[in-house]
Amino acid sequence: MVDRPNKPQALVTTPGLPHKPRSTSHMTTLAWKDRAGNERLWLSDAAKLDGSKAVRGGIPLVFPVFGTAPDHEPTSKLPQHGFARNSRWDFLGKSTTESSGQTDASVKLDFGLSKATITDEAKKLWPFSFSLIYSVTLTPDALRTGIVITNDGDQPFEFQTLLHTYFRIGDINKVSVSGLEDAAYIDKVDGAKEKQQAGDVSIAGEVDRVYHPANPSTPVVISEGGESKFSIVRETLGDVVVWNPWTEKAQGMGDFEPKDGYKNMICVEAGSVKGFTKLEAGDAYSGEQVITV
Ligand code: BG6
Repeated sequence: MVDRPNKPQALVTTPGLPHKPRSTSHMTTLAWKDRAGNERLWLSDAAKLDGSKAVRGGIPLVFPVFGTAPDHEPTSKLPQHGFARNSRWDFLGKSTTESSGQTDASVKLDFGLSKATITDEAKKLWPFSFSLIYSVTLTPDALRTGIVITNDGDQPFEFQTLLHTYFRIGDINKVSVSGLEDAAYIDKVDGAKEKQQAGDVSIAGEVDRVYHPANPSTPVVISEGGESKFSIVRETLGDVVVWNPWTEKAQGMGDFEPKDGYKNMICVEAGSVKGFTKLEAGDAYSGEQVITV
């Protein structure tokens, strides 16, 4: 791998694994440095990195259910946000492209998860034949994370998925999110009422919203003090969750440290979570986000 400041030192590996034909690890993108060496993702000081709990920070992958879905029978028994973020993934390989000017150089890491590799417990809770490839691509100015979900079985299944990105920011009070103007959203902190966004999103208390923008190709931009910090362009992933736990929720999460860390993070999560997506036998679904700083 080329040594550059924004190399993906980001992936959790668990030392001391028993020997397996391919390497496996709990897999969450934990960190991403920009050209200047500044960390751009938020990671809790108390995040569990040993696989005993989903990582509080970075970019955990939500699949096959967002939150819990007691009324959706096939996913009703699954834990919050499904099993993918707590599973051991196979490392499938690395590919790099180099260029003389380094402007389009990239490194791509691929990880796989399937019915054959999840735990027996997860299989019992969600017995479908699937495979998932999660790709993390790093270029000098962007981080690209993508998923391909394939139905390997002989019956359809329904899923939700989300790239649960924790962005690091300086001061939540100065943050605004554009690209969601006029979008319909479900307000999870106000009885799941359906509302419509007026103007940019700003955060002045607990926010937990599922946006369904009419035009999914409009970039979602996180700005701070009027200056653009991150631009998120989505492929296929039609919904955007905006989450900040604010004071009380942060207090209630044992793995959220420091407790005032909510001031330095905002989750803007690209996904497909409004209703369920049906995948017919043999079909595949792909989705991606490209984050540019
Ligand atoms: C967000 C949800 O995506 O994730 C919130 O909209 C939830 O409702 C948050 O609280 C964190 O979830 P978890 O399971 O990582 O604590």
